[in-house]
Amino acid sequence: MAETLALDTTLTKAEQYRQLLPQIEALTTGEPDLTANLANTAAALHQAFGFFWVGFYLVKGDELVLGPFQGPIACTRIRHGKGVCGASWARAATILVPDVEAFPGHIACSSESKSEIVVPIFKDGQVVAVLDVDSDQLNDFDPDDQTALEQLMQLAAQWFV
Ligand code: SME
Repeated sequence: MAETLALDTTLTKAEQYRQLLPQIEALTTGEPDLTANLANTAAALHQAFGFFWVGFYLVKGDELVLGPFQGPIACTRIRHGKGVCGASWARAATILVPDVEAFPGHIACSSESKSEIVVPIFKDGQVVAVLDVDSDQLNDFDPDDQTALEQLMQLAAQWFV
């Protein structure tokens, strides 16, 4: 296993994702432990792009429960339909939030978070977890993030058994 990520910050964001995703795939291939793979994925995204917060919430009963993450401490449990994460779970869809203040019911784990993207992970047609990425800049996420992170979450789905 490579011990460092090869990251070229002179590339466009879409190109950086194209460089990063195979490295995450290599890092997780053959590793059956869900927590280990989610933890390294959160760390890789955080290291590559310097996001304010990157982490996973896992569906447990009627709530999302905090999983592996990188960044400041965060809310532990989120109800179905609540906040951006709970809404992404309920809608079974990615949600891009350019300005968290403008999202009704947004859960502010940190006042420094300004924009956010939440991408669900599907297993057998059901949402089993969501990836939550927060930025301390407004309007920091675009369709390039959505495309790459959705692709990455298709890989992550394989880690759920
Ligand atoms: N803002 C999220 C809560 C999770 S934290 O941002 C880490 C939400 O509204 O669901």
